[in-house]
Amino acid sequence: MRESSTKCVLGALEVERGFAPLELSRSGRPAATSVHPSSFERTDTQPEAVSAGHPLRPAGTEETAVLRLGVLEVTRIGRVRGSSVGLEPLKASWQLPGMPRSYVTLDAVDTAEGRLELRRRGEGDFMISVAGRVLMTTRLTRSEQALAIRGCEPIAGRAAPRVLIGGLGLGMTVRAALDVLPASAHVTVAELSASVVTWCGGPAAPASCAALDDPRVEVIVGDVTDRIREVARDAARPRFDAILLDLYVGPGPVRGADPLYGREITERVADALAPGGVYAVWGEAPYAPFEKLLRRVGPARCHSVNAGGVRHVVFVATRPARG
Ligand SMILES: C[S@@+](CC[C@H](N)C(=O)[O-])C[C@H]1O[C@@H](n2cnc3c(N)ncnc32)[C@H](O)[C@@H]1O
Repeated sequence: MRESSTKCVLGALEVERGFAPLELSRSGRPAATSVHPSSFERTDTQPEAVSAGHPLRPAGTEETAVLRLGVLEVTRIGRVRGSSVGLEPLKASWQLPGMPRSYVTLDAVDTAEGRLELRRRGEGDFMISVAGRVLMTTRLTRSEQALAIRGCEPIAGRAAPRVLIGGLGLGMTVRAALDVLPASAHVTVAELSASVVTWCGGPAAPASCAALDDPRVEVIVGDVTDRIREVARDAARPRFDAILLDLYVGPGPVRGADPLYGREITERVADALAPGGVYAVWGEAPYAPFEKLLRRVGPARCHSVNAGGVRHVVFVATRPARG
């Protein structure tokens, strides 16, 4: 999982009718605060409709107001009630000035891991979360791009390189891979969630500059390890020049055999790679047992990536050109 989203924005907060006390919660510690009408500052979408600070709008008009509480800003969207000054609250959110706005949920599905949600903030800032935790965000993409560059650059000069990418997310890795690969490349993307594929090719397509529309890309909905095994056991199938993995979590300690980064699948990766092919894996942090295991593929290294305040890693192993 990726690090959680900014601590300053907690998302939507319901405001009680008539400026009742607001419960503002920050980093899990609630702080009760009373909002008095005198601290209420209006920000009108149609200022000409305002007289003496009171809303003289037709009933039902939607409007936005901003409450300032010290440095805290509460945005309140309401509907004008009759001819009175009151607003029937619709929704409210709060933020510190200068900090990013809250996300809005564009779509959501229930999965075995919890609710999978596509969220957007402003025009071009997307996030996929699962069970409330950030799975992928367009705010921090350096390590996902580094994965593609480390994995694809060494084989980009080949005649028609074949690349397998496991885990689509918001398509940042796919985009970066396409940017370094030639027009003759073929990129297979294996993604477990059909919803993620729909989102990445639909409402979240701007995040990857419509990577899925690129004619070099083929998307399959399924487990990437199945595709690796299929190719590994069939000598007649073309091998991959690069295999890139960025899944729910990177390599680390697990109980029992690890189906994603354990010995068996790592050996299948070696079988599925062409000579000189590259295996690149996104990780949260260095993990020595995985680096050791990667030697079954070939010479291996763990590269640290400064991903904007946090450090992630990219493990890279290269299959020997002969043997
Ligand atoms: C962290 S996101 C990938 C982010 C991606 N690199 C990007 O640039 O946006 C992980 C993705 O891997 C998918 N996933 C997890 N396990 C998988 C598996 N075994 N096979 C295929 N996809 C998988 C998840 O559904 C999710 O979309």
